[in-house]
Amino acid sequence: MPAITRANHCKIESGTNFNDVTVARMTDGGSVMETTPPKRKLRSSDVQRQQSPNSAPVNWKSPRRRLNSSPKCPPQSDGKTFNDGFSNLHSSSIRCLLKNLIVKPDWNPKDTEHIKTTKEALHVSTAPTTIMCREDEQSKIFNFCKACVEQEKAGSLYVCGCPGTGKSLSMEKVKEQLSAWVKESGLQLPDILSINCTSLANTSDIFIKMMGEAQPQKKRNGSLTPLQHLQRLYSQKAESSCMKMMLIIADELDYLITKDKAVLHDLFMLTTFPFSRCILIGIANAIDLADRFLPRLQALNCKPQVVTYRAYSKEQILKILQQRLIVLPFVVFQSQALELCARKVAAVSGDMRKALCVCRNAIELLEVELKASSKELNHNDACDAAAPPELVKRQESQIVRLDHMAVALSKTFKSPAVETIQSLPQHQQIILCSVVKLVRGGKKDTTIRELNKSYVEICKSTLIPPVGSLELTNMFTVLNDQGLLKLGQSRDDKMRRVLLKVDEADVMFALQGIRFFRNCLQ
Ligand SMILES: Nc1ncnc2c1ncn2[C@@H]1O[C@H](COP(=O)(O)OP(=O)(O)OP(=O)(O)O)[C@@H](O)[C@H]1O
Ligand SMILES: [Mg+2]
Repeated sequence: MPAITRANHCKIESGTNFNDVTVARMTDGGSVMETTPPKRKLRSSDVQRQQSPNSAPVNWKSPRRRLNSSPKCPPQSDGKTFNDGFSNLHSSSIRCLLKNLIVKPDWNPKDTEHIKTTKEALHVSTAPTTIMCREDEQSKIFNFCKACVEQEKAGSLYVCGCPGTGKSLSMEKVKEQLSAWVKESGLQLPDILSINCTSLANTSDIFIKMMGEAQPQKKRNGSLTPLQHLQRLYSQKAESSCMKMMLIIADELDYLITKDKAVLHDLFMLTTFPFSRCILIGIANAIDLADRFLPRLQALNCKPQVVTYRAYSKEQILKILQQRLIVLPFVVFQSQALELCARKVAAVSGDMRKALCVCRNAIELLEVELKASSKELNHNDACDAAAPPELVKRQESQIVRLDHMAVALSKTFKSPAVETIQSLPQHQQIILCSVVKLVRGGKKDTTIRELNKSYVEICKSTLIPPVGSLELTNMFTVLNDQGLLKLGQSRDDKMRRVLLKVDEADVMFALQGIRFFRNCLQ
């Protein structure tokens, strides 16, 4: 999310991530992957690109192997106890019990290997073997795919929910599950095409990719567009019956929303053709995208099934953080610090990416603190050769405390934009609140007309007299000049487009202290 990105001053780096585009052709024998550039959109996924120089895990290796390679690392009595992968860790409650009985040694935040291993465990690109708190959603998606493959039946599913709620992560697991199940049951694995729609230069390029997947070698009639080819294929029994089923996973589907909504509509319609071989899973943030943009599918009774990912609760965030940390052979965080992180993130957005980023930032704060105090120690050393041994010992056994976490949280959520919003006059805050209400759920912008209406509604509901239209227009201009909104051009003033230029979460965070805004934004 833009403002938060700025606030954190983190570096952008490349790394494995589930939002990068992956076009995968999977066969029974294995898979071939192509990657295309990462998404252009700025949202909470930016957090995953923000890393400090020493938090860049690309390939996850077992912490056991890494730790043992460090001369400073404490020897482990039983490496398997701590480091046998996420899923194995949870496979046996007895083993869990045993783990809790073993007292983990202190970590040493001055040991770069310890720091690196911890940050890797908390990195967004580190995928757990089993995805906690998403079991129901994942099994709904898997069962949908299973039914389509078993019955060789086309169909569509729409997966929606707020950023950082595990949608893309779950899809990776569903693909793995599906391949394993198909192998076991002796059925034919469909071709799998995963597309991050933000990578498409033109929205209709999705049909070129689908065509390349459906008939990679075949020469095509030049007068037909790829979409028309697909429509023809899926209308004719003879042509389609010799084709494999094709599973299309279209992530960031909202990028396909064009003015006339044609691409999105045509894509979903492909699953309704009589001999369609297309299983479509669309993923986006907007909860009501299918209702708003696919009315004709509804009329045809072909509305996609919907799986909704709710924002993570405090308990879920805590559980997921603990799952990631349990693989480490030492304790890194005070438990109250983790709880504070989970509570705050759940209250603002329920975005797991943010929770992970805040934890990594809290570690960095501890590192800075230790560096500063060791400088002090060196200085004392120079003055007085005998530095107190308790001080050295205390430094090495430092863990991330509540105060580190509180600072990391306020750095993440209290960006300059938050401060600006908090110091705005009330009516300008109401305007921002109205914009958030209008663009929430994936919509990119709104119009002056809609904004006027929503502003007046909020004023009425809170018994605040609205300002006149001239004054309101002036306030729009002020917010535009401050870089909080962007006003588009139009001959008709009422039809000018209005874009929120700061992060939605920043507005929510800035205004949540005021009860009537909290009620409005709920
Ligand atoms: N249940 C979970 N267990 C462990 N890690 C998780 C879980 N859910 C999310 N994460 C972490 O958060 C990151 C973001 O999740 P993911 O990419 O699936 O979000 P998303 O819902 O697709 O968000 P967006 O709408 O922005 O694309 C993941 O890469 C992963 O590191
Ligand atoms: Mg995603």
